[in-house]
Amino acid sequence: MTYLVTGGAGFIGGNFVHHMLREHPNDTIICLDALTYAGNLETLEPAAKNPNFRFVKGDITGRPAVDALFAETKPDVVVNFAAESHVDRSIDNPGIFLQTNVIGTQVLMDASRKYGIKRFHQVSTDEVYGDLPLDRPDLLFTETTPIHTSSPYSASKAAADLLAAAYFRTYKLPVTISRCSNNYGPYHFPEKLIPLMIANALNDKPLPVYGKGENVRDWLYVEDHCRAIDLILRNGTAGEVYNIGGHNEMRNIDIVKLILKELGKPETLITYVTDRAGHDLRYAINPGKVHRELGWLPETKFADGIKKTIRWYLDNRGWWENILSGEYQQYYEKMYGGR
Ligand SMILES: NC(=O)c1ccc[n+]([C@@H]2O[C@H](COP(=O)([O-])OP(=O)(O)OC[C@H]3O[C@@H](n4cnc5c(N)ncnc54)[C@H](O)[C@@H]3O)[C@@H](O)[C@H]2O)c1
Repeated sequence: MTYLVTGGAGFIGGNFVHHMLREHPNDTIICLDALTYAGNLETLEPAAKNPNFRFVKGDITGRPAVDALFAETKPDVVVNFAAESHVDRSIDNPGIFLQTNVIGTQVLMDASRKYGIKRFHQVSTDEVYGDLPLDRPDLLFTETTPIHTSSPYSASKAAADLLAAAYFRTYKLPVTISRCSNNYGPYHFPEKLIPLMIANALNDKPLPVYGKGENVRDWLYVEDHCRAIDLILRNGTAGEVYNIGGHNEMRNIDIVKLILKELGKPETLITYVTDRAGHDLRYAINPGKVHRELGWLPETKFADGIKKTIRWYLDNRGWWENILSGEYQQYYEKMYGGR
């Protein structure tokens, strides 16, 4: 099987590439990634020498190049991770989110139709459901919870989901969609909560926490997400949506305090900053369907996953320090320049 994985130089896509090469050594993985600020080729370094892996620098919104790549490589399956993914950036500049997250998905699905792929998987988010009140722990998102978005990011992801569902219904494109809660783990770009707090704490810099830090997220170790997508690709039903989550709700402030404790740093590093506009209060996923139908359960408990993650950031200082210094953006030139 040949898989086209878009956005594989990013956080979850990168972990997925490593997962697939490890779990399915006879399959071929082609990664298409534009290497935006969020893409880091150093994330894919462990895969670079694998003969079953190929990296292609390219934009999913570029129709001619996407078409040419499909014609040349004839993928069986497309897994679309490529996206603008940072809510704060979507508040500053929504246009690029619509372009990549909506139009890019359309371009990939058009090529998928043209070349008769066996499965198009759209990697989506629990943020399409909006948020839940803090005082109703009984409420969880299911696959039938109405779409109710808050930020330009989540609106663009929801638009892509609806378009994917329309391509299934109208053109019979074999689409599956997964909506996952917040991921954490290795290769997470240090602008997101957990890696930002680890990096700042290690550098004895202030840890900026929005509002009072009371917003609640459901956290899932990234490898558990990768396993769920792998299962959906193999055993999931075309046309279906699968929620993926860890039943692991934590307040932001509790995560920040936990990281400080693990690193032996003082809580005086915490700095409360003005809350994000329209900040969602609580996300919580009911992953019952993917458990019942595909037998998926998360394997890594948060207490273990956060320790593993902190260990990874301690052992891979070069990876995130190159991001903070901007050095990582020279990596492509260094590895591929002149080829
Ligand atoms: N991070 C989470 O907690 C989370 C949770 C649920 C769903 N998701 C979804 O998972 C996917 C991956 O998220 P992530 O956190 O790994 O994101 P990320 O920002 O770390 O990575 C995105 C990748 O996409 C690439 N990219 C961006 N625009 C592109 C374009 N036009 N063409 C080709 N490549 C492009 C970037 O270079 C980068 O490598 C996204 O679709 C996101 O919506 C993320």
